[in-house]
Amino acid sequence: MSETTPFQIPTTGDLHWFKVPPKVFFEPFSIRYLAELKDLSKIFIVSDRMVYKLGYVERIMEILKRRRNQVEIEIYIDVPIEPTTKAITEALNVINTFNPDNIIAIGGGSVMCVAKIMWMLYEHPEIKIKDIPTQFVNIKENVFNGPEVGEKARLICVPTTSGTGCEVSPFCILVDEKTNTTYPIAHYNLIPSVAIIDPEFTYTVPKRTFADNGFDMLSHSIEAYISTYANDYSNGMCLEALQLIFKNLVNGYNGCSCARAVLHNASTIAGMAHGNAYLGLVHALAYKIANHFHIHHGRVAGILLPHIIRYNAKAPVEGQSQLKKYDIMERFSKICDRTGLNPGNNASESLASECELLLKGTESATGFAQCGIDEKEWKDAIHNIAITALESQYSNYNPKKATVTEL
Ligand SMILES: [Fe+2]
Repeated sequence: MSETTPFQIPTTGDLHWFKVPPKVFFEPFSIRYLAELKDLSKIFIVSDRMVYKLGYVERIMEILKRRRNQVEIEIYIDVPIEPTTKAITEALNVINTFNPDNIIAIGGGSVMCVAKIMWMLYEHPEIKIKDIPTQFVNIKENVFNGPEVGEKARLICVPTTSGTGCEVSPFCILVDEKTNTTYPIAHYNLIPSVAIIDPEFTYTVPKRTFADNGFDMLSHSIEAYISTYANDYSNGMCLEALQLIFKNLVNGYNGCSCARAVLHNASTIAGMAHGNAYLGLVHALAYKIANHFHIHHGRVAGILLPHIIRYNAKAPVEGQSQLKKYDIMERFSKICDRTGLNPGNNASESLASECELLLKGTESATGFAQCGIDEKEWKDAIHNIAITALESQYSNYNPKKATVTEL
């Protein structure tokens, strides 16, 4: 039988996967499922002071008290704005004393990142926090192997902001506050056990943060769709998320609760997609730039996105490899087709322009000077940023191999 017979399923020879949390609840007031979930008796709630002040931790405790069984609750609300080793160590001390059967992380990306790493260390005291950045880095090596989690406790994530997709992904960030270094962590055993996507928690998010998070999820959807690991499962999710984001980002920024509710789902859908298809150059650079200049990750991603769409659309120069076999322009055309954008005679340009329109519609920065970065400081830093971005594993999933100079 010929290899090209239409009856043969094409295969890359690699084993592929699609991993998401076993339970995802989504709708307004879906937090009420905490009153119904089985097997909750000792619950450790992780959050931050802002979320606590908004009364969200209290709301969860009220729901837990409606349960038929009596529950014991311990809380840790000192997660800082970044998921530092200090916060993880502190939370770990509390959790080890309390010994819960469930962890509820309610908050934004930082809270969920702290909870994920703490969950792993709670179940595996033999793992040292200093070893996490080296042990849990290469995502492809961490699909099937590594320490199992979930035997002592489940991790239930309740995002109060949209954007990161951390509640359904194998990714998190660890910040070493002593060296000011951000480590992207990736392991499929860090996928939470339950995600509750309740938009009621997102209506109080300030509009600037909302817009920044919006560009984070937008870049997740586009990057996962053109990634070298894009697959039939993630592709549909990317296109659906993109359609929802294009239609609702500006309205959500202007305070429309319905639009914000839709985007809360879009964020999680994009999180499932990029958790399995990975990301590209926008994220390779965004993590480094955001960390160096202390700018919101999503804001950096939004600024970079149109430029990297245009870069990826250009044919590779001599000696430069196009890593994905598909036609990149066909990918961009499909995005236009699905989201109702007029591709004109250049789908990548239409998509990049639409991203710029969304930046304008949300009064977002379109360049780094607008983020208050000093030009000299930028020039001094950018070469090293380009080198470390190129070394980042996200560069490997971009459809085109970049050079330091291009970055
Ligand atoms: Fe991101």
